[in-house]
Amino acid sequence: MTAAATATETATLSVSGRTLALPVVTGTEREKALDIARLRTATGYITLDPGFGNTGACASGITFLDGERGILRYRGFPIESLAESATFTETAYLLIYGNLPSRRELEQFSTRLAERAALPDGMERFFDLFPKTAHPMAVLSAMVTILSTYSPALLNPYPAREEMDEAILTLLAKVPTLAAYGYRRAQGLPVVPPRRDLSYTANYLQMIFGAPSPDPAIVQALRQILILHADHEQNCSTSTVRLVGSSRANAFSSVAAGVSALWGPLHGGANQAVIEMLETIQRDGGDYKKFVAMAKDKASTFRLMGFGHRVYKNFDPRSRIIKKACDQVLGTLGVQDPLLDIAKHLEEAALKDDYFITRKLYPNVDFYSGIILRAIGIPTNGFTVTFALGRLPGWLAHWKEMLESPGMRIGRPRQVYVGPAERPYVPLSQRG
Ligand SMILES: CC(C)(COP(=O)(O)OP(=O)(O)OC[C@H]1O[C@@H](n2cnc3c(N)ncnc32)[C@H](O)[C@@H]1OP(=O)(O)O)[C@@H](O)C(=O)NCCC(=O)NCCS
Repeated sequence: MTAAATATETATLSVSGRTLALPVVTGTEREKALDIARLRTATGYITLDPGFGNTGACASGITFLDGERGILRYRGFPIESLAESATFTETAYLLIYGNLPSRRELEQFSTRLAERAALPDGMERFFDLFPKTAHPMAVLSAMVTILSTYSPALLNPYPAREEMDEAILTLLAKVPTLAAYGYRRAQGLPVVPPRRDLSYTANYLQMIFGAPSPDPAIVQALRQILILHADHEQNCSTSTVRLVGSSRANAFSSVAAGVSALWGPLHGGANQAVIEMLETIQRDGGDYKKFVAMAKDKASTFRLMGFGHRVYKNFDPRSRIIKKACDQVLGTLGVQDPLLDIAKHLEEAALKDDYFITRKLYPNVDFYSGIILRAIGIPTNGFTVTFALGRLPGWLAHWKEMLESPGMRIGRPRQVYVGPAERPYVPLSQRG
């Protein structure tokens, strides 16, 4: 499914005595954009928008996000309903193919995934080559690239629909196996092969922990976390996947780049950083107010991890769902985590503080997700891998949407050069 936006009105731009009519593009939810595609040709000017706060890089039909009203919908379906009722596989199908699958389509999709979950013969040995201290995100990114070496038929820069589907299925099916094997090998444990009789989420848990039938409460908690992370329109890692994919690099290298972008603590790595921050507060005697003060101090680089969002300026709908789930999961599992109390105090203090109020900084999805992952037994440095697993359908949906968009071009931003003006080369012998 490709996305197109229509121009409904025009805006007029005057620059250096020239006037240019800019088409105004309106989206489904009436958000408006100035189409500046002709700007440079017509005026010689470009736009400058560091951090892309005002730049739409594409039209997309996958996810709608309204940061002011705290709305998140995948293909039109509210995140709240999907988190409540959908399976992760169903959500992945929805994101990638545009509609909720029929029972038959879902069965077929699940079977095709289960059939592809095992790793190619011999690939397992690569895990033993990483140092035991390797970060799981580095291992995952590397292993996704290595997977491409086993899939030469899926590297076509202009893939036919069947090749695109096969690449999508291969990645969706094998990334959980790569993630779980990476974890087991790093612990010095034998790998647990994938099973066809379990759901996507339950299979992942059994590959990690080796328990033949994972606790249903844990399966539910992970299902919800994965769905909440499944897409978030043009975030850093998804934009990375699209940019890499726009050079007609294959799905594997695009996803490997997405994993790398997600690793950063301002993006997916925040879930690990939140727990590390809460542990630091705990070790420090629990004085959360000191850390709120430090987050406000412009002389410090410390930020309240799990707080703030580029787009959400009211509340993050995912964080509301996750906070509720956090209490439920810990209750069901009988886990008492002192970090949860610290998190709640920290949230309360920040939400009352002028600094956070005026800047519209609220807890984001990462603030409570780590506490659930900890309760499930996932090690802290494996949290972002779980995020990657959740985000994978979103990355693949965007990759497919982009390749299927008519008129797709390589992504290539411009810049304003501020370096030295032309100067003559000085031979080394004359440089002193
Ligand atoms: C998410 C994030 C990267 C968004 O960044 P952004 O849209 O570029 O916002 P900015 O960095 O411009 O922040 C705007 C203001 O709020 C402050 N701010 C933003 N997040 C903050 C935080 N978590 N703690 C303290 N101050 C914060 C900034 O210092 C800035 O203050 P200023 O106007 O006085 O300079 C940012 O809020 C952040 O670093 N959060 C912590 C990491 C995190 O949880 N990431 C996961 C996101 S899902």
